[in-house]
Amino acid sequence: MKRLESLTLRALNRVEPETGLNSVTKLLRLGLVPLPPQYRSCRLAVKLAGLELPNPLGLAAGIDKDAVVMHALSKFGFGFIEVGAVTPAPQDGNPKPRLFRLQQEQAAINRLGFNSGGAEAVAERLINRPNGAVIGLNVGANKESVDRINDFVSVIETCGSQVDFLTVNVSSPNTTGLRKLQAAAALKDVLAKSKTACRQLTKRPKLFVKLEPDLSLPALRAAAEIAAELELDAIIATNTRAVNFPNGASGQDLGLKSSGRNEKGGLSGRPLFDISTRVLAEIYRITEGSVPLIGVGGITTADDAFKKIQAGATALQLYTALAFRGFSLVAEILSGLDKRLSDEGFGAVSEAVGTDNSNWRYRD
Ligand code: FNR
Repeated sequence: MKRLESLTLRALNRVEPETGLNSVTKLLRLGLVPLPPQYRSCRLAVKLAGLELPNPLGLAAGIDKDAVVMHALSKFGFGFIEVGAVTPAPQDGNPKPRLFRLQQEQAAINRLGFNSGGAEAVAERLINRPNGAVIGLNVGANKESVDRINDFVSVIETCGSQVDFLTVNVSSPNTTGLRKLQAAAALKDVLAKSKTACRQLTKRPKLFVKLEPDLSLPALRAAAEIAAELELDAIIATNTRAVNFPNGASGQDLGLKSSGRNEKGGLSGRPLFDISTRVLAEIYRITEGSVPLIGVGGITTADDAFKKIQAGATALQLYTALAFRGFSLVAEILSGLDKRLSDEGFGAVSEAVGTDNSNWRYRD
């Protein structure tokens, strides 16, 4: 299995990254990706905002944007799965090429720009969502929308009853102006309206918000306080890091070496680990552990997973490392995490949450 996986990964590494991603989606759809080994342990069971997860390691948003392969993905050992981002109306996203592999750094830069089949198509697929899996939906806004807040409400109304949680994604760097919705007044507005929309659904999902790793400390503090005040069910920290945008960090500033380092977009994978973990830890301190946190950004090993938990994460997500290591990485991380918890005397993930928080200071 490992050998087949490494041959497949090697072949995929040779093709244009988005073509590779589409090929994986096709193989998943046809049931042609062999099931990776599974890892289960009672120690890994987690309660996240009232949702019972078999383990804390979730699939981050962005792989299954249109909820077309959630059945296959639900068999791969993840504790939960986030599909999307979905926008109200279908849209193509940015022109290609828009996804770049940074081999040396085990990273990616993407500027997909919310390519989405639209909320209605996704809602129809979600009616037949896989049984027994915890499924969430990442909610985005259309590029040309004149009322982005209404876009979030519209997707929630169309799809919200079919999922266990919704993520208000105000942190993608690839839709111009979207990140401004993280500023205090706008954030309050979008989250309050999203919450009202959730309350009116026949089946009410949990409501999460996903933040970027580039906020100043005061802006992060304001955003986390608003999420806590509005009693959001969880905060996801973080989305990708904006690189090569005007007035922002360049790939070179960040010490990236691979040929794609000058591409504009969101940086994910290994180089995101440190900053996203610092943001996570800071949110844990600001909210005094009162809001469950989902740690995402650069997780590649069991040690990374353990560090995020000790920084304050109740649950985790990953994406980019899967492109370099394949789906067998899920069981590898879970078994390593289980052993680490046991070695350090923790009987459950929840006992380890935040136990090394103070070692992760914010950069400001
Ligand atoms: C993403 N990510 C993302 N996030 C989100 O909230 N909505 C989205 O639609 C997408 N789309 C997307 C596409 C691609 C190609 C990538 C690489 C990433 C961000 C993702 O969910 C996650 O937050 C970051 O990638 C950081 O985690 P990793 O990849 O370092 O494990």
